[in-house]
Amino acid sequence: MSIDNLQHWRWREDERGIVWLHLDVAGERVNVLSTAVFSELESILETLESSSVKGLAFISDKSSGFIAGADVKEFTQLSSREQTLAMIKRGQTIMDRIDALPFPTVAVINGFCMGGGTELSLACDYRIALDDPKTRMGLPEIKLGIHPGYGGTMRSLRVLGPIAAMDMMLTGRGLDVYRARKIGLIDYVLPQRHLVSAAHHLLETTPRPHRPGRLIRLLGLRPVRRLLARKMRNQVASKISKAHYPAPYTLIDLWEQHAGNERRMLSQEARSVADLSITETAGNLIRVFMLQNRLKAAGDKSLIEPRHVHVIGAGLMGGDIAAWCALQGFRVTVQDTSTRSLAATIERAARLFTRRLKTERRIKSVMDRLIPDEKGSGVKHADVVIEAIFEDIEAKQTLYRNIEPKLKPGALVTTNTSSIAIDILAQGFSDPGRLAGLHFFNPVAQLPLVEIVHGEHTREEIINQALAFTRHIDKLPLKVKGSPGFLVNRILMPYLLEAIIMESEGIPKTVIDQTSIDFGMPMGPIELADTVGLDIGLHVGEILGRAYGFQVPAKLKDMVNKGHLGRKAGQGFYQYQNGKPIKPKNKPYELDREELQDRLILRLINEAIACLREGVVDDADMVDAGVIFGTGFAPFRGGPLHYLEGRGRQAMQQSLKRLQDRFGDRFAVDGGW
Ligand code: NAI
Repeated sequence: MSIDNLQHWRWREDERGIVWLHLDVAGERVNVLSTAVFSELESILETLESSSVKGLAFISDKSSGFIAGADVKEFTQLSSREQTLAMIKRGQTIMDRIDALPFPTVAVINGFCMGGGTELSLACDYRIALDDPKTRMGLPEIKLGIHPGYGGTMRSLRVLGPIAAMDMMLTGRGLDVYRARKIGLIDYVLPQRHLVSAAHHLLETTPRPHRPGRLIRLLGLRPVRRLLARKMRNQVASKISKAHYPAPYTLIDLWEQHAGNERRMLSQEARSVADLSITETAGNLIRVFMLQNRLKAAGDKSLIEPRHVHVIGAGLMGGDIAAWCALQGFRVTVQDTSTRSLAATIERAARLFTRRLKTERRIKSVMDRLIPDEKGSGVKHADVVIEAIFEDIEAKQTLYRNIEPKLKPGALVTTNTSSIAIDILAQGFSDPGRLAGLHFFNPVAQLPLVEIVHGEHTREEIINQALAFTRHIDKLPLKVKGSPGFLVNRILMPYLLEAIIMESEGIPKTVIDQTSIDFGMPMGPIELADTVGLDIGLHVGEILGRAYGFQVPAKLKDMVNKGHLGRKAGQGFYQYQNGKPIKPKNKPYELDREELQDRLILRLINEAIACLREGVVDDADMVDAGVIFGTGFAPFRGGPLHYLEGRGRQAMQQSLKRLQDRFGDRFAVDGGW
């Protein structure tokens, strides 16, 4: 291969002797570092190593960003530890060669730069980035159950020092430009028009590349390292267990043992990633990543070009949906009959924007796009309307009759209903085929899933537009049938109800919650019920109870009657102080942990099977995706149905039968098994 017939890279030498390497991976929406991209880069490096250029700049020709990371798809096709090791060593060698080039190098980062992209940029002397909220840098490998493998552990430590580098790798968090500049990951943050001249400036004046200060470097010395490593382990342990997520612990060991020696760090980094890559956790987390990509691919953004979103109902959900849409760049009018709701919406939105955007200028420009609209004048300009008023058939249908004549032709109309059949609501339109459900989850800014709900009569084209819009607002769309509870709430409800039944039997709530957390859930079911709101839980429980025969425990009704509605009321199953539950210390409690866990998890799985049988979503993977992204179901288990296959169908059915004998027919094996 020569540099004359490149598929993915473009070589351009300018009049000042600088080579610009443009990356534009053929046939992909984003740049990924695949084997093909590496092969070409190897040829390019060969040419560069024997040339007399003055400097090198890496730049992306994709408007979507710089480099999204390694090609995860290729990674999944490797069948052994040895193959993985070989691939990692190849990547490491390439980064080493960039690092060793005899002239200065710079990465010009536009938009996201993740994983392998950040590792490549760290092999350069300088990094400059486009001043844009979409520009993010990070080393998110930990989220795939591994850690950086292309020299990223060694070089992030070299450039940033142990505190910032380990924090970035252990959390896997993407940093915005300000944060990245603060820790020294980026040298300059610039508007588009200054990027090229800044690259020239750096390559021609060659200032000393960024290195951490002496004090920070001292933290990397062996005795200090031991202390810090212990602290990091404790911090990680307070969030996740080693049995469920080994990678962060392995990364801390790697650093503690080898950080003093860059060469040894590199060779151990490669081995360690190869070892992690064959763990079940890594396999499942990569599966979750691929599921996420499948959800993303379900929405074809080019189908619609929305500019103006109109949200009706500025309550808990509508208010947050409006704020989210404004944050994603849309002009948003938000309508409510209550000025109090509108004021509360703006107040919550300001808090969200401040958290996410940091600078006054950005916050102000988003605030300007979010417009309270008491009279509903925005409806006639809107490309997308999202209705989120009270959960009441009459109220919703009356509203639809009101707005239908005012709608722009072709406007997409959606409802956030969580329990009413779309076909019933759609009767409020003279054209019932035009309504789709857009079911967000609470809290909107945190849960990535949106269920796209269709009824019998919803037109295909409308569903596709709803899928597309969900991608425009950077959420993950999942197409679901409009049966009661759709997918996520229906699967979650038996699990929550079982937890409440267990609590009524006298099993301590902290034990129930801990059982779920031990399984890998982000929060126990009792605390989750309190967080959702027991009134909402009861309402949805009763609707689903009627539809599927779920038994709603009397205790839940009692709690609601007493006004103990959960976190929002300061009192639910737990008492709350500053929004945090006060957890009583457990008395020693004799229990069969496995049975407790099975009671909770098997009800969830049994319902997941029922949804699959009824075709609520297309296939088992979509059930798993919905439950993971809609509820936070233990990602390292790869989803409820994937977990089921791992434990064995027969064994699980037998467990269900045992539970049925002891506790009754709510554990009856579903026909879909
Ligand atoms: P909410 O009670 O907090 O807010 C409803 C808002 O709608 C109130 O501010 C009210 O003033 C306004 N409203 C009522 N009728 C109106 C009308 N005709 N015109 C303009 N504004 C009107 O309710 P929440 O919890 O936000 O729920 C809204 C919808 O979202 C419901 O359909 C609910 O089922 C659904 N949902 C709720 C979730 C939750 O966790 N609360 C989760 C997902 C969906």
